[in-house]
Amino acid sequence: MRKEVNTKRLAPCLATQRNRRLYERVRDTYARLSIVSHGWDHIHRCLLNAVMIAETETCSLDIVFAAALLHDIGFIGNPDPAGHHERGAAACASWLDEWSEAERTAIRDCIYSHKGKVKGFGTIPVTVEQKIICDADLLEKVGYTGLFQSVITFAEFGATCWPQYRSLEHILSHLVGVEEIEFYTRRAREISAERGGTAERRAIQAMAVDELSVYYSLPEEEPQLVSTAD
Ligand SMILES: [Fe+2]
Ligand SMILES: [Fe+2]
Repeated sequence: MRKEVNTKRLAPCLATQRNRRLYERVRDTYARLSIVSHGWDHIHRCLLNAVMIAETETCSLDIVFAAALLHDIGFIGNPDPAGHHERGAAACASWLDEWSEAERTAIRDCIYSHKGKVKGFGTIPVTVEQKIICDADLLEKVGYTGLFQSVITFAEFGATCWPQYRSLEHILSHLVGVEEIEFYTRRAREISAERGGTAERRAIQAMAVDELSVYYSLPEEEPQLVSTAD
């Protein structure tokens, strides 16, 4: 039987009508979209990561819950990862009409900083809620889940906006460069360690690139034309 997303851990979050309405609206919106790598599947795992981390931190669970649900809305209508944190931060208020101005600001800032130190972003999280969202999203890069999530991510980017990732060799060669990831929270470090961090996935990627070397090589230099003129 096909497994469905596990919502048991979300019981404290879904105890209020406001949170339940937001959850259902986000879930139902994603169900109508054709986003794969940053669709409901990723959003839901990220939400559970955030809740698992929040259970060990002194924080606002409501802010963490809403920010995790909305952290990648910047991909809705635009598949380009560049700037999706800014687009999401700018768009989140339209999802939060039941939330106070202060709450909307806190959620917006979590969305804006959710990429943390990732190359090309550099939006350092400051509050505990921002650090939780950043770590919850980063956990999607570790372990075997992280490897396969990255492959579908780059395949989708290749299909939509980054043509340099339309080759398995190019995707895997790029992913070998994934560095060991720094987390802000103790719980995220623990979960990452349980999954082997990024060491195992980097080793697998390197082996795959090695295996693919039969099929790919660097472009050969143009042969020098020999002049036949006297
Ligand atoms: Fe994101
Ligand atoms: Fe994400």
